Amino acid sequence: MEVLPTIPTASVDLVVTDPPYILSAGSSGHQAGKIGTWADMMNAAYWYSAWYSQVYRVLKPTGSFWTFCNWRSLAVVQKGLFDAGMGMASLLVWNKKQPGPGGNNGLRPYYELVALSSKENFKIHNRSTGDIWERQWQSHHGETEHPAEKPVDFVARIINVCELSENAVVLDPFMGSGTTGVATMECGFDFIGIEQDSKWFSVASTRIKSAQAQGARVLVRNPTKRALDAGDSPAQLALSTPEHLPTAGADSTPALRQ
Ligand SMILES: C[S@@+](CC[C@H](N)C(=O)[O-])C[C@H]1O[C@@H](n2cnc3c(N)ncnc32)[C@H](O)[C@@H]1O
Repeated sequence: MEVLPTIPTASVDLVVTDPPYILSAGSSGHQAGKIGTWADMMNAAYWYSAWYSQVYRVLKPTGSFWTFCNWRSLAVVQKGLFDAGMGMASLLVWNKKQPGPGGNNGLRPYYELVALSSKENFKIHNRSTGDIWERQWQSHHGETEHPAEKPVDFVARIINVCELSENAVVLDPFMGSGTTGVATMECGFDFIGIEQDSKWFSVASTRIKSAQAQGARVLVRNPTKRALDAGDSPAQLALSTPEHLPTAGADSTPALRQ
């Protein structure tokens, strides 16, 4: 919530993100650490709606917002979206073709979800696109050790479904190992990424630069110089393309900084 407010209003074409589901942050001490009380979930929705509001603000009228979630966090996402005045246009089901862990009293989940919230002038590139996508997923078979790494081609498919202009800017406020950034480079657009963990920021930067070197573009800006000067570490950091984004008073630099 430090970096998002520095991004100018209506400057971003697409937000694709995979935030912490924070379902284990509840006060109930649920033994599986997976889900708290309804009140805990509504508290989580309060935090979600705070950054959703920022997402809504930075998106252009042609923009859209895709956020990963699962069946447990869906209520939180829906409340957060409606509280932020966004609503949900679609719910994409990702059939992972491999079940996650089940319990004694529930079914093993084969799917993850991506909630789509679109602004008034957003257009789907191919209107026959359906809402169930299959993509085999296996734990610990990603490019990095990030426990929540998503497949690059799955995110690239989301990007390609959106009708984007040539200089479109894609934002991921929780970039983890940088999957959205890599997919954005592969699709030939510009990228802003935010990640609070310095280890994953570094992994993401390396991956995205490598994808960029293979033909796409990324320039770098660190809008958290103020926070870093104040000694906060690791602060949120961002990759961006300043030629397409007014800097809103932020520091510009030609190299990655932490
Ligand atoms: C679910 S992971 C994203 C994984 C990513 N999709 C990938 O493929 O690697 C969420 C990430 O958000 C980061 N994060 C959590 N809270 C954050 C915050 N307030 N600001 C920025 N990043 C945050 C975590 O460090 C974590 O890496």
